[in-house]
Amino acid sequence: MKKQSIILSLCLVCALFATKGMTQNNLVLREDNIEAILHAMTIEEKVGLLVGSQEDMMPGAAGNTRPIPRLGIPMTILCDGPAGLNIEPKREGTDQTFYCTGFPTGTAMASSWDVALMEYVTTAMGNEVLEYGADVILAPGMNLHRNPLCGRNFEYYSEDPLLSGKMAAAFVRGIQKNGVGTSVKHYAANNQEINRRENDARISDRALRELYLKNFEIAVKEGKPWTVMSSYNKINGDYTQQKHWLLTTVLRDEWGFDGIVMTDWGVKEGTVKAAKAGNDLMEPGRPIEMERLLAAVNSGEISMEEIDRNVRNILKYIVKTPHFRKYKFSNKPDLKAHAAVARKATEESIVLLKNDDNTLPMKGNEKVALYGITSVDFFGIGTGSGEVNTAHIANMQEAMTAAGFTLDNDLAEYYRLCYATQTTTEKMDGSAIDKRHRPEPTVSVKAIERQAKDNDVAVVVLGRIAGEGADRAVKDDFELTSIERELLQNVSINYHKEGKKVMVVLNIVGAIETASWKNMVDAIVLPWTPGQEGAHAVADILKGKVNPSGKLAMTLPVNYMDAPSSRNFPYTWDMTNGKKGERKNVDFTDYEEDIWVGYRYFQTNKVEVSYPFGYGLSYTTFSYSKPSVKADKEGFTATITVTNTGKVAGREIVELYVAAPAGGLEKPARELKAFAKTKLLSPGQSETLTMKVSAYEMASFNEEHSAWETAAGTYQVMFGASATDIRATASFNFKKAQDWPVHDVLGAPKE
Ligand code: BGC
Repeated sequence: MKKQSIILSLCLVCALFATKGMTQNNLVLREDNIEAILHAMTIEEKVGLLVGSQEDMMPGAAGNTRPIPRLGIPMTILCDGPAGLNIEPKREGTDQTFYCTGFPTGTAMASSWDVALMEYVTTAMGNEVLEYGADVILAPGMNLHRNPLCGRNFEYYSEDPLLSGKMAAAFVRGIQKNGVGTSVKHYAANNQEINRRENDARISDRALRELYLKNFEIAVKEGKPWTVMSSYNKINGDYTQQKHWLLTTVLRDEWGFDGIVMTDWGVKEGTVKAAKAGNDLMEPGRPIEMERLLAAVNSGEISMEEIDRNVRNILKYIVKTPHFRKYKFSNKPDLKAHAAVARKATEESIVLLKNDDNTLPMKGNEKVALYGITSVDFFGIGTGSGEVNTAHIANMQEAMTAAGFTLDNDLAEYYRLCYATQTTTEKMDGSAIDKRHRPEPTVSVKAIERQAKDNDVAVVVLGRIAGEGADRAVKDDFELTSIERELLQNVSINYHKEGKKVMVVLNIVGAIETASWKNMVDAIVLPWTPGQEGAHAVADILKGKVNPSGKLAMTLPVNYMDAPSSRNFPYTWDMTNGKKGERKNVDFTDYEEDIWVGYRYFQTNKVEVSYPFGYGLSYTTFSYSKPSVKADKEGFTATITVTNTGKVAGREIVELYVAAPAGGLEKPARELKAFAKTKLLSPGQSETLTMKVSAYEMASFNEEHSAWETAAGTYQVMFGASATDIRATASFNFKKAQDWPVHDVLGAPKE
C-alpha cells in the first residue's frame, strides 16, 4: 500500500511538472494573454524588451525591438521615413534591389491642403513598409515651422498647428490601414537642429499648448498612431523623454494615447527617469540602459508596476505587427503604381506664386532655355534619416523633354558637363561636395544674350537642400547667392529685351527670400522637394496639363529677421548680437515670440510679407458665395459655395479663419480653424463646402487657470483664399463661455 501510494504521489508530481512544463513551453504571446506573458517573463526579459538591440536588423533599418523566442515574442523592425521607407536598396548575396518610392516631402504634401490625398499617398507608402518586412515607419515628422532655417522643415508640414495636425493624422491613417505602424515625431519642440540633442526649448505653457503640442494632439486623437517618438531636446529644463507631464499627463491621460513612446536615437543619462516618465522603449538601445533598469529595479528606484506598465504597452504594440502575424512579405511592392501616386501627389501640391500676364501655362511647343545646376541635380527629398533610396529621381531636363518641350541643347549639355565635372572631382579627391553648397556654374552675359535670341522662354531652376543635423544659413541659402542673383538679372534683362518670358522653379527644402528678386521674373512655380516624380509634375504644370492648386503652408517673409523667432534662432546670433567668432549659447533657446509664429504674428502686427500663409494661384478663378454659419453650444458649422469662374478646370482651397471677441486673453487677429479643398471643378461648376469647428477647437489656453477657454461673444468667421485674401465673412454669437481645465478634469498636477 505504502509503496503504491509513493508511486502514485510520484506520478502526481511528474504529472504536475509535466503540465507546468507544458504550460511554460506552450505559453506563447497572443492578443488575449498579455497578462499571462507578463507574469511568465523574467526581469531580464522585461528590461530587454524595453531596450532595442540593433542585432539581426534588416539592412538600412533604424532599430528594432528584441525578440523573446521562448514566449513567441518576435523582433519588430523600425525604419525611417517620412517621404517613403528608408532602407538599403542593395543587399549582399543577391542581385535583387530594395528601392522604395520617394513621395513628396512633408512641406510639399502640406501645400496640397488635401487630407484625403495625404491618406491616399501614405496608403501606398504603408504598403511598401509592409511588403519590405518592416513593422513601423518612423514618421510623420511634424514639428512646427517655427523658423525658416530649421534644417528639417522639409520633413515637417507647416507653421500652423491645425494644418500640421490634420496632415499628420491623415499620414498615420493611411500607413496604419496596411496593418503597420507609425511613430509621430519628434515629440516635442524639436524646432532646430543646432545642438538638437541637448538644447533646452524654453516655452510658455500657452505657446506649448496652442502651437507646439496642438498639432501632436490632433494627430494623436484623430490618427491614433501606434507609437510616438520623444525628441532629443529638453523643454523647460527636462529632456522630453524624461518629462512625465509630457509623456503621461498630456499624451496619455489627456489625449488618450494608448501606444508606445520610444526615444529618439541615442543614449542619455536618466534611462530610469525616462522609463518612469512613460517612455516605454529606448532606441536604438544599448546594454547600459538595461543595466541601469535592472539596477533600479533591485534598488527600488523603479517599481515592478512601472516596468510592467511599459512592457505591457510594448506587448500590446507587438501583437498588432506583421512580424507577430507572421506576414509573408513579398519584397516586391508595386513601385510603378506607387510612382504614379507620387506624381499625382506632386501635381496637387505645387504652389504657383506668380504668373504675370498669364505667362503660364506654356503652349508646350516652346524652345526652352533651362538654367541652373538644379535642372540636372534635382532635389526630390532632403538629406539624413528623411532621405529615401529611390531607383531614380527625375530631373527637370528629362521631365521637360518627356513633356514635349524642346530644350536648348547646348545649354543643357553645359549643365550636364558642369555636374559631371563636379561629381568626378568629388569622387577623385574623396571629399564629396556638400550638396548644400553645390556651386552654381556661371553663364556669361554674351551666352545669355545669344540664348535669349535662340529660345522662346527661359526657365531658371533654383535649388536648396538640407537635412538632419544642421540648420540652414541666411547668407547664400535663405538668401540667393551672388551667382544666382546675377544669373536671374542677366536672364531677365536679356529675355525681356527680346519680349520673352522668364520663369523660376523653386526646388527648395524650406522658405527662401523672394521679395528682392520676384519682380525680375514673370512666373514662379514652387514644388518644394517633391519626391522622385516631382520634376514631371512641374513640367505638367508648366505645360498646363495640370492646373496648380497648392497653397503655402507657411509665410514667406520679406526678410529673414522679420520672423520674430529669428531673434532667438541660434544661427543668427553672430549676425545680430554677437562679436565676430563668438557663438550664442546654444544650450537653450528662448521662445520669446511666444504664440506669435508665422501668420499669427504677421497678420496681427500688419507686417508686410513677400507671400502670405495660404497663398497660391491657379490658372482659373473662383468666386465665393455668401457663407452661412450656424452656431450652437457645441461649436459652429460653416458652408460656402465655390464656383469656378474661369476657363479651365481647377481646385480651390478655402481657408476658414476665426477672430475671437476682444477682451480676456490677447488673441491673434485670425487663426486657421478649418479648411477644405474642392474637387476638380469644370468652368462654371460649383461645390458647396462644409466645415465644422467645435467649441473646444475655438479655445485658447489660459495659463493662469491652466485651462482651455472659449470666450462668449461675437466671433468673426473669414473665408480666405489666403491669410490676407479674405473673400467672404460671417459672424456668430457664442452665448456662454466654456472652459476645459486640464488639472481639474484630468487630475494631473502641473509641474
Ligand atoms: C532622427 C529621427 C530618426 C532616428 C532613426 C534620429 O537621429 O532624429 O528622426 O527617426 O534618428 O534614424
